[in-house]
Amino acid sequence: MQRIDTATKAVDLFGAGKHGFKDGNQSLGIAPTDLNAAIFNAIQEEIANVIEGAGMALDPGSRTQLKEALELSNFDIGTKLLFFQAAAPIGWTQITTHNNKALRIVSGPGGGSGGSVAFTTAFASQAVNGSNSATTLTTAQTPPHPHAFNVYNTGGAGSNPSGGSGGSPSASPGTATDGGSGGSHNHTFTGTAINLAVQYIDMILASKN
Ligand SMILES: [Fe+2]
Repeated sequence: MQRIDTATKAVDLFGAGKHGFKDGNQSLGIAPTDLNAAIFNAIQEEIANVIEGAGMALDPGSRTQLKEALELSNFDIGTKLLFFQAAAPIGWTQITTHNNKALRIVSGPGGGSGGSVAFTTAFASQAVNGSNSATTLTTAQTPPHPHAFNVYNTGGAGSNPSGGSGGSPSASPGTATDGGSGGSHNHTFTGTAINLAVQYIDMILASKN
C-alpha cells in the first residue's frame, strides 16, 4: 500500500509523512491534489488481494465482496480453538471447564468428554506391587539330582550294619537313579491395578474451506 505522492498532495495531512488529498480553490490559487495511477493501483490491489486471498473470484457485479472476505477470515462467536500460550489472546476467553485431561481425536461429533482418572494421575510413574502365589513342586518339576547311598560289605561278622557287629562302608558309594526331571512350573502373580482410564475431551480435526 502507499499514500498519494503527487506534487500537489496535502503534505502531512494524517501526521508526519502521512500525506493526503486536498481540494482546490481557484480563487485562492490552490491546486487540487493530482491523482496518478500508482494510488489507484495500490488501493485496487489492497482490496483485490483480500477478496482473492479468501478464495473468491472478483465479481464486477458485487459491492460486498470485501465485506464477505473479511467475514470469512473471522471466527464465529463461540468458536473453540487450542492455544499453546500462557493466556487467551485478546478477544478470546479461556475455558476452565476441563482440567488435567487428555485430548482424543474422534471422527464423530467433537466436544464430548469421558474417562475417570486425572491425566497426571493416570500417567504418573507408578510402582507395581504384588506377590507370587506359593507353588508346591511335583517330583517331575524338581531338577535332576543324584541320590547317594552307601553299600556295605558283607565280609564282616554280619551283613547288617544296623546289627552292631559287622559290615563297613564300601570304598565307592553307589548312586541311585536320578530323581526329578527339571519340568517347569508357574506362579500366579497378583499385583496392584493401574487405572489408565484417563480423562479426555473429544477433539475434531477440520480444515478451512
Ligand atoms: Fe518357583
